Amino acid sequence: MTQLTYGKIITIGLIGLVFGMYLSSYNFEPQIFIWDVAPELTSNDALKDAKILLKSKISAPESVVVEKNVIYTGSASDGNFFKIVDEQIEKTINNPFGSGAIFGLRRLNKTDFVAADMINGILVVNFETGNIRHLIPSGKEIHNFKISMTNDIDIIDEDTIIFTDTCSKWDFSKLGYCFFEHIPNGRVFKYQISTNKLELLIDELYFPNGLQILPDRKSILIGELWAARITQLYIEGPKKNERKIFADNLPGFSDNIRLSTHGTIYVAMAGVRQPTATSYLETIGNFPAIRKVFMQFLPEIFLKIWVFLQYSIQHGLVLEYDTNGILIRTLQDPTGVVNRISHVADDGEFLYLGSYINDFIAKIPKKNIA
Ligand SMILES: *[C@@H]1O[C@H](CO)[C@@H](O)[C@H](O)[C@H]1NC(C)=O
Repeated sequence: MTQLTYGKIITIGLIGLVFGMYLSSYNFEPQIFIWDVAPELTSNDALKDAKILLKSKISAPESVVVEKNVIYTGSASDGNFFKIVDEQIEKTINNPFGSGAIFGLRRLNKTDFVAADMINGILVVNFETGNIRHLIPSGKEIHNFKISMTNDIDIIDEDTIIFTDTCSKWDFSKLGYCFFEHIPNGRVFKYQISTNKLELLIDELYFPNGLQILPDRKSILIGELWAARITQLYIEGPKKNERKIFADNLPGFSDNIRLSTHGTIYVAMAGVRQPTATSYLETIGNFPAIRKVFMQFLPEIFLKIWVFLQYSIQHGLVLEYDTNGILIRTLQDPTGVVNRISHVADDGEFLYLGSYINDFIAKIPKKNIA
């Protein structure tokens, strides 16, 4: 090619770039984020003897609640709910608000559960009657806060819940933008059901996802998926409102956080970070201008798929911490049969592993895990 042809290609490219930026109606404001090199993990195969439950009968059981022989869950891919008895689906309840994405589930009281639906907001679910109703609809303004993407919940008492709102700028259909902008605009709210009182507990979080009240009820853990860390916030006692980092530079992207039955904390890992596997997304964390160009030219769906492909290395991972943030052990499946884990529910005898994408629940006898 001649110099002239190169010149033409560059000129056309530049005109296209400027035109694309002009066409884009969104105000993208990507921010710099510098990732540390992921820590080295010693491999183990603690999850390899998992029993695969309900293969292909269920889709994306992201959050699970286990009570004796009953498993309650909701689907992250269509928003429907399932009651599973003796490992068989006994009841399916369709999401009355159409398409949904259930990412958090907890029992509220004797009759009802609360669910965090990333599309529809906070729901109250009665698995016996099949009744589902809105507690806080997405997009609705309460006390000047507009709830956007509710992701996980915990229960303070039967009248008070706390929940994560992952990304205040975008709704679920623009999840890819949330990842690419990398703005700490996630929040945790406290909500009193009887009075409809909504209170902001903490903001400036990077994609807050899993949420867990610690056993002493004085502080909460918040998984900041897109910063590979866990933040602790005191909600009672002398340190009330203090925030600190509970665990930093995790070997992956944390999903739901739940207590074990032996006084520790399980953190399910949605994706794995490895020191040797270079992640393009982590590399361009340094270069917001490049991300801005991607956002202006690539469809949101492409950005979202890119994020998931980047972080879903086929390697199952669960982290177990003590209440001081010391990593006690990791549970892994290097074969990747059990992977992309979003939840660990411990009933004392077994661990039940949910996933935001897989079509099964995995069950592991705790006695296999030293
Ligand atoms: C459980 O909580 C829901 C939501 O506040 C309420 O409607 C229901 O009456 C409660 N059930 C019981 C048994 O307290």
